[in-house]
Amino acid sequence: MTEMTIEERLTDLETRNEQAFMGGGKERVAKHRESGRLTARERLDILLDPNSFVELDRFVTHRCSEFGMGDKKIPGDGCITGYGRINGKIVYVYSQDFTVFGGSLSATNSKKICKIQNMAMKNGAPIIGLNDSGGARIQEGVESLGGYADIFLRNTLASGVIPQISAIMGPCAGGAVYSPAITDFIFMVKDTSYMFVTGPDVIKTVTHEEVTKKDLGGAITHNTKSGVAHFACDDDKHCLLMIRELLNFLPSNNIDDPPAIPPKDRVDRLEAKLNSIIPDSSKKPYDMKEVIRLVVDEGYFLEVQQHYAGNVLVGFSRLNGRSVGIVANQPTVLAGCLDIKASMKAARFVRFCDAFNIPLVTFVDVPGFLPGTDQEYGGIIKHGAKLLYAYAEATVPKITIITRKAYGGAYDVMSSKHLRGDINLAYPTAEIAVMGPDGAVSIIFREQIAKANGDGKVKDKLTEDYRATFANPYKAAELGYIDEVIEPVQTRRRIIEALEMLKNKRDTNPPRKHGNIPL
Ligand code: HXC
Repeated sequence: MTEMTIEERLTDLETRNEQAFMGGGKERVAKHRESGRLTARERLDILLDPNSFVELDRFVTHRCSEFGMGDKKIPGDGCITGYGRINGKIVYVYSQDFTVFGGSLSATNSKKICKIQNMAMKNGAPIIGLNDSGGARIQEGVESLGGYADIFLRNTLASGVIPQISAIMGPCAGGAVYSPAITDFIFMVKDTSYMFVTGPDVIKTVTHEEVTKKDLGGAITHNTKSGVAHFACDDDKHCLLMIRELLNFLPSNNIDDPPAIPPKDRVDRLEAKLNSIIPDSSKKPYDMKEVIRLVVDEGYFLEVQQHYAGNVLVGFSRLNGRSVGIVANQPTVLAGCLDIKASMKAARFVRFCDAFNIPLVTFVDVPGFLPGTDQEYGGIIKHGAKLLYAYAEATVPKITIITRKAYGGAYDVMSSKHLRGDINLAYPTAEIAVMGPDGAVSIIFREQIAKANGDGKVKDKLTEDYRATFANPYKAAELGYIDEVIEPVQTRRRIIEALEMLKNKRDTNPPRKHGNIPL
């Protein structure tokens, strides 16, 4: 055999690269585009800073010879892996190519993903998975299942060490949904992405239920009903830009500081509107999102899970340029009560922020836990305890602002002093007690009310007395449970001062293998 010249070798390399870039071929790529989706490579172009992507393992192919697979080999095998940058910071990525065997996971695909998972862990950088996969590659059987488990293990070990982000950008079935489920945030694309463990056909056979793909596992289902997803995006491009946006709030790993940008908003900005935002009647709702927007830098709040459990708000903002995690009760939805969904939503967010050194700012207006058999049978006791647990174990700076109600167990839960809240502030409109005046009076003055024989004035007077004694922040302030009762107009300045004061906070939990959060 004659030796190849360098020119010939370069041409050969170019041909091989071109073959890899073609994915599943023109026809399949055209069909894929028709469905409204971008190709796996186009997605990386939008996600990453221009020309920053470095691909690894471009020529890896599968090793399967069953079912005529021996002569169906495509360089890269339908999974593009490597690293690149987002706003200058290194991230590791994989992008599944649905045009190659439906993006299904082969054993070699798994090895490629595990390789970048290992690199991301070793080098302390986030990992982003762009998922578009029919699950385990059927032709490979248990080898593919093993490949999934190898990925799940690494997802688990990376949890709390590096941020892990998943985008669901096509029909993702079986194993393709469990890796995302272990990661920190799941983005879905409306109308083109689906997540389910088993699809509509299997469901019909087993349970005789008829359900469409969209109703079963579309972006709206998982953002509103199941709470599996955190963001619902309009199309692929929107999804990829949203991931970039989220990354701007996160550190690269658990020993990194959260990012700070040069502040664009004055620290001492006073917001007169905050003095009048809480209605005189404690029964009237107001929009807590407005309170948040008035306080944070440039009014920007990147809300997480905005379509799920609207009675609690969670998301990221900046204060004096630094990332903070915001948790807030929302009086406009279920009067801001904590229920099962809200407790789980907030608990997971608190734990994420704590794992990644992002300070927590909590706005409290909570009348208590939502009563009822639905909630009790659904396990509100253990789910509410998740939030309690999450706040109690969190060692990041914790600032709490009670704007109005902080009643019962929910007072304890919402980043109270007793759970190591660092600075606990209250507005003069705060009401901090075991329960609201109506309920409290009905219980402790049951006899007097019965003796009054329906004379409503007796109960009104007792309620008024209770309100005057307990429905204010001063009992808690007398005990030091509230550090300061502030004029609402000062909120922004007070929180920023507290965060500056807590900048070098060090706190730890006892050494142990791990805690046992009530799951
Ligand atoms: C091999 C697959 C595949 C798979 C799809 N393809 N899924 N090949 N293994 N899992 C191939 C198809 O044969 C087809 O090849 C091409 O990808 C495109 O698929 P279509 O069906 O034409 O696309 P679409 O109509 O959009 O439907 C997409 C889909 C459907 C909903 C994902 O393909 C599907 O239901 N696939 C099977 C899903 C599944 O049951 N996966 C196994 C789960 S078990 P051609 O050559 O015709 O273009 C699992 C266990 C792991 O994952 C458990 C870990 C906990």
